[in-house]
Amino acid sequence: MICLKNGFVLENDELIKKDIYIKGNKIVDFNSNDKIEVYDCEGCLVMPGACDIHVHLREPGFTNKETIKTGTLSAAKGGITTIFSMPNIIPYPDNLLGLKVEEDIIKRDAVVHVFPYACTTKEEKGKELADLEILAKHVKAFSDDGVGIQDLDLLEKACKIAKDNNIVVASHAEDAVLKYAPAGEYVAVKREIEIAKKTGVKYHFCHMSTKESFNYIKEAQKSGYDNITCEVAPHHLFLNETMINNNPNYKMNPPLRSEEDRLATLEALLDGTATIIASDHAPHTKEEKQRPYELAPNGIIGLETMLPLVYTNLIKTKKATVKQFIDWVVNNPRKLMGLSAVMIAPGYPADIAVMDITKLHCYTEEEILSKGVNSPYIGMELTGFMRYTFVDGKLVYKEE
Ligand code: DOR
Ligand code: ZN
Ligand code: ZN
Repeated sequence: MICLKNGFVLENDELIKKDIYIKGNKIVDFNSNDKIEVYDCEGCLVMPGACDIHVHLREPGFTNKETIKTGTLSAAKGGITTIFSMPNIIPYPDNLLGLKVEEDIIKRDAVVHVFPYACTTKEEKGKELADLEILAKHVKAFSDDGVGIQDLDLLEKACKIAKDNNIVVASHAEDAVLKYAPAGEYVAVKREIEIAKKTGVKYHFCHMSTKESFNYIKEAQKSGYDNITCEVAPHHLFLNETMINNNPNYKMNPPLRSEEDRLATLEALLDGTATIIASDHAPHTKEEKQRPYELAPNGIIGLETMLPLVYTNLIKTKKATVKQFIDWVVNNPRKLMGLSAVMIAPGYPADIAVMDITKLHCYTEEEILSKGVNSPYIGMELTGFMRYTFVDGKLVYKEE
C-alpha cells in the first residue's frame, strides 16, 4: 500500500490535510495489515490527474518532433494522466486501419491514458468524410485540428453522424481566406454555431482566442444550446501579441492576440463561457523553430506548464478557486468526453497529481521531457509543478 502523506485534498470546497492510500490501481481506505510505502506530500495539493483534450503527440508520422512515449512522459511530468491525441498524424486515423496503427503504439508506449481523435474528413482535406460510422465505435471525438472545415454541408453531415453516435466534434474554427486574423476565427465560429444548433451535436470549439468568438458562443449558450462548449489555452490566457518579437516560440495558431482579446479569454473562462483549459501541446524540432519567424511552424509545447501556469496566475492570486481549477482541468474535460467522474476518495482510480503549491521553480530547457523544447515559458518562475504523478496506482513521474 502507498501512502501520500500530509498533502492537501479538496473536500466540499475546502483544502483539508489528509493522508491518501493507494492499493493496486485504486484509492483505498487505510488498512493496518498492509506494508506501507510513504510519499511525502507536505506543501502539496493532491488532486485527480488532469485531462488534456488537446494534444499533438505526432506519432505515427512525425517522430522527429515527438513520440507517444516522450509526449506521455511529458504529460506525466505536467500532472496530466489522460490525454486526447489530435489526428494530424500519418497514417491519418481517418479509417480503422490508420487508427489501429496509433492504438498499437499507445498500448506499447504510453505512460498515461491516451484517447485518439479520429479525423472528421479524409486526411483532414475537408473534401470527403472520414469513415465516421465505423470510427464512431472506436473513438470519443472527431476533429480536423490544424485546419478549419470550409464545406459547411460536409460539416453538417459529419455532425449528424456524430450526433447519432454521441460523438463530440472538436472544431479548429478558421476561415480559409481570413486565416490568422481575429475574424478568421470568429467568422468560422459564427457559421459553425448554426450547424451545432441545427444538429444538436456536442460541438466543441478548440483554443478560442477572440472577444467576438466568446460573445457568439455565450449568446448561443444563453439561448439554451448547452451542446456548444469551448476551451481556452494557457498561452491565450497569459500571453499577448506584444510579447512575440519575432520569436518562433511565441508562434502558434490561433496566434497570440491583443491585450483586449487576452482579457476577453480570461473573462470567458471566469464567467463559464469556456469550461475547459487545454494545452494544444504542439512540439516541433529545434531546427524548425530556429528558422526565421515567418518560416517557423505554428505551435508550442504545453503539457508540462499548463497546471503550473494556471495555478500561479489564477489560483495563487485568488482570481479563481481550487474548485474552479479542478473543474477546468479535470472534471469538465472528462464530462465532455464522457469519461467517468473522478475524486480523491476510496474506490476511485489512483490517477493522481501531487502538485507542489509552495515552491517557486524556474522552468528550464534541461528539465523538459517532451522532444520539443519550443516553449515561451523557459526561464519563467512558477508555482505548481508536480512532485509525483501516479497512473493506475503506479508512479509515472517523480520530481528530480
Ligand atoms: O499551433 C498550432 N499547432 N496550431 C495548429 O492548429 C496545429 C498545431 C500543430 O499541429 O502543430
Ligand atoms: Zn487547432
Ligand atoms: Zn491543436
